[in-house]
Amino acid sequence: LSKIEIKLGDIPEGKNMTFKWRGKPLFVRHRTQKEISAEEAVNLGELRDPQHDKDRVTDPKWLIVLGVCTHLGCVPIANAGEFGGYYCPCHGSHYDASGRIRKGPAPLNLEVPYYEFPSDDMVVVG
Ligand code: FES
Repeated sequence: LSKIEIKLGDIPEGKNMTFKWRGKPLFVRHRTQKEISAEEAVNLGELRDPQHDKDRVTDPKWLIVLGVCTHLGCVPIANAGEFGGYYCPCHGSHYDASGRIRKGPAPLNLEVPYYEFPSDDMVVVG
C-alpha cells in the first residue's frame, strides 16, 4: 500500500495543507497552542461522535485527517465554519480543529489515518 512522506517544516503554524494520498485529499494541520487548548477542553458530552482530542493526535501540534466529509464525501474547507476547524459547503457540516463533527448532517468525525513520525520534521502516512 502506498505511503506519503510529508516535510512538516513546510507547513506554518495555523495553516492546513492538503495533499493527495491514495486518491483522496489528506489534511495536515499545524495547530496553534490556542487550538490545541480549546480542543483538549471540549466536553465529550457535546460531541456527536465522542472522541477526546488526545485520542485523535500523536503530537498535539499536528492534526492529520482525511479531507473527506463523512456525510457524502465532499472536501471540507479549512479554517472555516463555526468551530474553527473545517466547513463542508455541500450540505453545511462544521468540524472543529480536531476534525470532529460539531454541526450539520455528517455522522462521524473526519477519519484519522495511520501515520508515524520517523523524525521531528517528517510524517509518513500509510
Ligand atoms: Fe459534507 Fe454533505 S458532503 S455536508
